Order: sequence, then C-alpha cells, then structure tokens
Amino acid sequence: MDRFEPLRRRTIALVGLMGVGKSSVGRRLANALGMGFRDADTEVEAAAGRSIPDIFAELGEAEFRKGERRVIARLLDEEPVVLATGGGAFMDPATRALIKAKAVSVWLKTDLEVLARRVGRKDNRPLLVGKEPIEVLRTQAEARYPTYAQADITVETGDAAHHVSVDQILRALSAYVEEHSQ
Ligand code: S3P
Repeated sequence: MDRFEPLRRRTIALVGLMGVGKSSVGRRLANALGMGFRDADTEVEAAAGRSIPDIFAELGEAEFRKGERRVIARLLDEEPVVLATGGGAFMDPATRALIKAKAVSVWLKTDLEVLARRVGRKDNRPLLVGKEPIEVLRTQAEARYPTYAQADITVETGDAAHHVSVDQILRALSAYVEEHSQ
C-alpha cells in the first residue's frame, strides 16, 4: 500500500470560485494521486452537446444548473476521481448534499485580485460577460464563502505554482483522512 492509497477511496471534489485552479490544479492532483480526473463543466458540455456560453445563452442558467446537478450526481456514483466542480455547483443544495455524502470536498481559496487577473484573460465564462471580473468575484465571494466553508477542507493556495498547491492539498487531505479514519 502506498501512502496515498487511503486518499483514493473517495472522490475528491474541488470547490471554489472561478479561476482558483479547480481544473488545472485538479488535473495535477489526480496525476500525483494516480486517480482519474473529471471536470464537471466539460461533462455538462458533453451531455448538452454545446459549450457553456451557448448553454447559458440558449437554455439559460437554470437549465445549466439542472444539467450540472445531473452530471455531478452521475459522476459521484462512478469510481473515485478528482472532480473539478464549476464555481456555482456547491451552492446548489442538492448537489452540495451529494458531494458532502459521497466525496471529500476541498475548498480552494485565493485572493480575489489573483482570481480577477486569471479570469480576465479568458472569455469562456458567461457570468463575466460585459462586467468587471473583480466586481463579480467580490459579489460571489460575499454570497458563496459561507457555503464554500462547509467543505470538509479549506486550502488557501495564494498565487502559488500548481505543484505547490498540489503539495498543500495532499498534506491537507492526508491529515483529514487520518483524522477521520480513527
Ligand atoms: C460558474 C463557474 C464556471 C461555470 C459557469 C458558472 C459559476 O466554472 O460552471 O460559468 O457560477 O461560478 P469555473 O468555476 O470552472 O469557472
């Protein structure tokens, strides 16, 4: 048995605001653990046969949230993986309850200025279209942080390189799993 074996028994669900690294760090975390990686946004796009901006534009946010709920429920019934959730997924009470029941949840938290810089470089997020990223992120942080805080673990990653964040998450997960296996 290697030291990560206890961490591979449950899905590790990454939650947090847009741009925090749920997908990029999550993929590397999965590699380090020898687990599969799934990205809920990508799975929603595959299920809907269109991109997230198109889902929002053509079907609306409420339909996107329904699809997200269905996809995450399905993924949580499959083999354990590292699962990057979309920033709003953990805010949905049904999705959150499933994640709490079936996964270890990790809130990745970083300064809003860092997030604003990262998301400002991309145009694939419908909630940011025509808005100042920092303003959207501030509003989301106010609304979402109390709920994200219900995750099993919080890891403050700052603006660190991906491999540094992966090490931080692995340490926090190991401590959590050890504490909860007694
Ligand atoms: C959203 C975050 C996005 C995506 C959608 C809505 C949100 O995912 O699910 O644009 O509500 O915060 P990322 O957090 O991966 O950017």
